[in-house]
Amino acid sequence: MSFKSDATRKPMILVADDQRMTRHMIRRILEHDEMIIQEAQEGSEALRMFKEFSPDMVLMDIVMPVMDGLEACARIKGVPEGRYVPVLMFTAPESGKEIDLAFRAGAADFISKPLNPEELRHRVKRLLYLRELEIEREKNEKDLKESFLRIQTLSRKVLQAYEEERIRLARELHDELGMTLTTLKLNLQILNSEMILPREMKRKENLIDILQLVEDALAAIRAKSMAMRPPPLADLGLLAVLENMLQHVEMSTHMKVQFHVEGSPDNLPLELETTIYRCVQEAITNAVRHSSAKAITVKLKFSDEEVFVSVDDNGIGFNVAEKRQKGDHVGLKGMEERVNLLNGKILIKSHKGRGTHIQIIIPVINS
Ligand SMILES: Nc1ncnc2c1ncn2[C@@H]1O[C@H](COP(=O)(O)OP(=O)(O)O)[C@@H](O)[C@H]1O
Ligand SMILES: [Mg+2]
Repeated sequence: MSFKSDATRKPMILVADDQRMTRHMIRRILEHDEMIIQEAQEGSEALRMFKEFSPDMVLMDIVMPVMDGLEACARIKGVPEGRYVPVLMFTAPESGKEIDLAFRAGAADFISKPLNPEELRHRVKRLLYLRELEIEREKNEKDLKESFLRIQTLSRKVLQAYEEERIRLARELHDELGMTLTTLKLNLQILNSEMILPREMKRKENLIDILQLVEDALAAIRAKSMAMRPPPLADLGLLAVLENMLQHVEMSTHMKVQFHVEGSPDNLPLELETTIYRCVQEAITNAVRHSSAKAITVKLKFSDEEVFVSVDDNGIGFNVAEKRQKGDHVGLKGMEERVNLLNGKILIKSHKGRGTHIQIIIPVINS
């Protein structure tokens, strides 16, 4: 056994016993193992010394005057610094209840008096080792939590930047490229109106073809920039935006689309609304593109604690594990990542020939 955190540091042990002989015996045994010993004669002195010296471990007799070992142990366990410090209690068992009482008071271990030096040494070393492990485990857990939070914050920022970048691109596409093409179109129209001579007719036909191409390009740019713009959640609200989208799907695909809502999305953070919108959008797009379904049902339930979303289609279904393993599609993965970022849960259930069920629950607090 070794002490990983600081191999050169000697562990400090606080020994509390009203019998001088016992304290000295413990000192002799443990000093032999390179440990530093502090001595207290009863519980309240042990408590005071514990606060003063912050020992790595406490060895304590149960029966002592003023404050007994059980109370002193419970008090040590009650202060934050005492949490990881093991207390090894000992006494000459009389009633037989001592062991139980010692563990209830928070002791990490128990030895009967008279003390056996070898047993004491091994128990002390083992408890010190376990304490080191516990401190290390807690530290790793804390580091892990912090890293997770850092990654989560970073990912949220990336997602936000992605939404902002889409807005910028949509605007550039619409304003700059759209403007250039509109000017081009106007110039071509002027040229066209000026070509009136019979010998110009052949070139005029070409010009009209080019004009048509420019019109098509303009229409495509308009449609693309519309699609890239974020949903007007802040202006219309989540329900109206979703309803518009679902109506559009019903009209353009002849699928039957049902929309059920329970509760209302009051004061939801925009980030949460955006996530819900994007997830429903992806689920619906998938149903339209891949499922050959006749019907889609979207359900939303809002409560004070969480938002529930489900999207069902009665289409051909697919093997979720297989698609997930392939990893060359980003739609489903993107949904999962968005939901995870808000500490939510997502379930994707699909079976060949039996449609697809997607269920999302996102907590409102912490999101
Ligand atoms: N509702 C659905 N019905 C049938 N197949 C689906 C459905 N949703 C997803 N899939 C299958 O899972 C694959 C992965 O979906 P996704 O990650 O959104 O990527 P993409 O839509 O770009 O292909 C799709 O290509 C499709 O084969
Ligand atoms: Mg998709």
